[in-house]
Order: sequence, then structure tokens, then C-alpha cells
Amino acid sequence: MVAENMTARLAEMALGHGDQNRAAHTDISNPDRDGGRYTDDSGAKMKALAWMGKNDVRVIETSKPKIVDDHDVILKVTGSTVCGSDVHLMHGVVVQVEKGDILGHEFCGVVESVGPSITKLAVGDRVVNSFCISCGECSYCKDKLPTACEKTNASTLHAKLYGGRMGGIFGYSHLTGGYAGGQAEYVRIPLAENNLLKIPDNVPDEKALYLSDVLPTSYHSVVYTGVNEGDTVAIWGLGPIGFMACFWAKKKGATRVIGIDSNWRTEYAKSKIPGLETINYATLEFGQTVPTKIHEMVPGGVDVSIDASGGEYAKGWAHKLEMAIGAEQDTSEMINECLYATKKFGRVGIIGDYVGFTNHFNVGALMELGIYLIGCGQAPVQRYWEELLEMVEKGEIDPTIMLTHRFKIDDIAKAYKLQEKREEGLVKCFVETRFSAPRAEGTPELTSL
Ligand SMILES: NC(=O)c1ccc[n+]([C@@H]2O[C@H](COP(=O)([O-])OP(=O)(O)OC[C@H]3O[C@@H](n4cnc5c(N)ncnc54)[C@H](O)[C@@H]3O)[C@@H](O)[C@H]2O)c1
Ligand SMILES: [Zn+2]
Ligand SMILES: [Zn+2]
Repeated sequence: MVAENMTARLAEMALGHGDQNRAAHTDISNPDRDGGRYTDDSGAKMKALAWMGKNDVRVIETSKPKIVDDHDVILKVTGSTVCGSDVHLMHGVVVQVEKGDILGHEFCGVVESVGPSITKLAVGDRVVNSFCISCGECSYCKDKLPTACEKTNASTLHAKLYGGRMGGIFGYSHLTGGYAGGQAEYVRIPLAENNLLKIPDNVPDEKALYLSDVLPTSYHSVVYTGVNEGDTVAIWGLGPIGFMACFWAKKKGATRVIGIDSNWRTEYAKSKIPGLETINYATLEFGQTVPTKIHEMVPGGVDVSIDASGGEYAKGWAHKLEMAIGAEQDTSEMINECLYATKKFGRVGIIGDYVGFTNHFNVGALMELGIYLIGCGQAPVQRYWEELLEMVEKGEIDPTIMLTHRFKIDDIAKAYKLQEKREEGLVKCFVETRFSAPRAEGTPELTSL
């Protein structure tokens, strides 16, 4: 994968950066890049989590960022977290991540300074980001599909790999724009009025933070696959995304929701979501598979299956081998399981991340059974976040049901390792900085690692 990363970099150099028509300066993944042109004039320093190589992320000292574009805001970060997607980055499976890139696409904070064209945000506002960066003016952004933004990502390789370039993402490699992330004490927010949502006083950071990704992403997976009253639903992966997708499926009126994983997370999910059924596939009887178990529980199969695991998690040796030698980038095992477990003419959605090609995909099952296979895309956060904030304010959803840990930013590299191993009962963490407010009542105490 490191070799693939190098090849990706060379390919981008050969193809040339597609930087025409950009709405913001991209590829400033650390303020200290390019001879310090993007550092704050005060010379102030900050802590930030940087990718330093495959399986090597570290807290480094770097410079505080400065406003580059008129529509920028500099945010003093009061909360961030680690995402399952960050683990893919740490593993180097996402191409075009470079040494020194600051990671983190989920964060909240206080506006510290604003660029001259900002009118709707003011210094001191409490805000949460959207992981995706919207220009606000292209046809996709106007349509509230900001992850398809045409003007915030200059990666030519992205366009070549997928046939169409997606929008920028904070702290997620140069494939998605090379923006510095918010696992830091400060972060630059380009096009800030499109990409920050004000947090009302009655909502603490520990709840608001998850509007940046987990809540909209899990909600999108359920809305986009058309989960409705009376449906039966199975969801692969009970990390924060799959766990919250189970919650939303229930809230949409699904009669039966089955969450699937291979560890303690099945019990955790069951303890937090009343009526949830689960399958821990590590404990299945000999000869039984996830789909056969689902058919036993719901004869004929479920109406909707959602894959919230991720293409890098091969189960069997064949895919492990093929991935190791670069014969495929993603396993097809979970998608095939979804196909086998879904009733004829049902729906299968993919919200877990997949990056490239896969082998042994059962296209026959897809075609013959008339299954509707839905790529959910990177979730269009801005499409949902106001509606979701309202639900948080009304208490219809409490995002802290997935919050199990609180760490200091100094410990965030260790939190990556916990997230990777899924040990220590970690589902989702809140990472504080020196600017954070005191812990909100009822949320986890600080753990030192
Ligand atoms: N599309 C988007 O907008 C978007 C946004 C955020 C995250 N994601 C992706 O969603 C996925 C889940 O994110 P997360 O933060 O919950 O990650 P996570 O790593 O915490 O959770 C993934 C879970 O899947 C389980 N799993 C692995 N293989 C499995 C299998 N074969 N069957 C069932 N479960 C299996 C793991 O044990 C783990 O509990 C990741 O791939 C992440 O990159 C996508
Ligand atoms: Zn995320
Ligand atoms: Zn746009």
C-alpha cells in the first residue's frame, strides 16, 4: 500500500493537479507546508495529530494556521474524535496521504477569527464542522449533495479513479483536497459559512460534535436505502456508524433490526437500543453463516441490508491474500453476504468505505434476485444536519449513547490504536483540548492512556 501511495503521488504529478475552478485554496494539509506561507503571523504553535507513515500517527507540534481565503475562519478546537475512516487512513489504504498531513474530519470549536467576506459567523460563536467541504455554489452543493462538490478538490487521480471527482474532506489525504484536519488545537475552515453549523447554548459539545459525521452518515444510510415503517433490516458492523444506523432504522419504524459484528459491540448495541437483535458471527455454529442465520431469523430474507463495515476488512484467507498482493483493493464478502441475506427485489446499501476494485462479487445474485444495490456515497452532511440538530435539541436522539470514552489530544495517537483494535469497550470517543469546556454531565470521565 505504501508503494501504491507513492505510485498515486507520481500519477498525480504526471496527470497534473486539476486546480482550475477551485473555490478555495486546497492542499494545505499542515500550515508548515510550503515554507510556512500559511502560518499565523504571531508564530504561535499548536498540537496536532499527523500521519507520519503507514501505521504511524503522532501528535506533533506545528504552527497555528492563518486565514488564507477571504471566506476562511480559524477555529479554536474544543472537541474532536477518531473515526473508523481514520483507521483506514492510518493503515495507508487511502492513497495520497502524505507525511505530516494533519488528520481529523469531525470536530467542534469556537470561532477565533474570520476572513473579510464572512458575515454570518462571528468571533466567539460555538460551531461544529461538516466533514465534507462545500463550495455552496455548484449544482451539487445547491442540491444539498456537498460530498459531490465540483469545486473543493483538485485531485486529478480522484477523477480518474472514479470517473468523477468528489468534493473536499477535512484531514483526509490529498485525494480529497489535502485540507488540514481538526485533530488539532486550531484548524482553518475554508468556505466557512457553508461548512460550519452554529451550536445552540443548550447543546453541549459532547452531543454537537457528532453532527459532523456519525449522525448524518448513519441517518443517510437509512434514508437513502429507503428504510420504512414495517421493514426488516440487517446492518453489518456495529461501530458508531452501524450502531447509529440501527437506531435510525428503528426510529423509521422498521419492525425488526439485526445488527451484525464479531465482538462485544453486539452486546453493547443491544444494551442501548431496545428491541435490537444481533448476530455475533464469531459465535455461529459450525456450517452456519451470517446469511443463513438471517434467513433463520427472517425467513425469505430482510427488506434492506446495509454494509457499515468497510472494504478493507477481509474475512476469509482468499481475500486477505488477494488484498495483500494488490490483486484487489476491497473484499466483496460483506456485500455478497448482504445479497444472500436480502429478500428478492430488496435493497442493499453500502455506507462503509470502499476504495477500489473487488474480486468474486456475485453479480449473478444481484441480477437474478433483482436486488437494488445502492452506493450511499460519502454522506451529504449539510442535507441533514439542521434536521438532526433539532432532534438532538428535542431529545429525540441522544448521540452520547455511543460515547464511551474521553481522551486528551495528547493521547489521540493511542486512541487510534484502540479504535483499530476495538478493545477497551471503545465505541466513540470525545477528544478534548486545552480550550474545551468542562465535561458535560453524564458523559464519560477523562481516561489517560
Ligand atoms: N460513507 C460515509 O460518509 C462514511 C462516513 C464515516 C464512516 N464511513 C465508514 O463507515 C465504516 C464504519 O465506520 P465506523 O466509524 O463505525 O468504524 P469502526 O471501524 O468502528 O466499525 C466497523 C465495525 O465493522 C465490524 N466488521 C468488520 N468486518 C465485519 C464483517 N465482515 N461483518 C460485520 N461486521 C464487521 C468491526 O468489527 C467494527 O465493529 C468505515 O468503513 C468508515 O470508513 C463512511
Ligand atoms: Zn468520520
Ligand atoms: Zn460545490
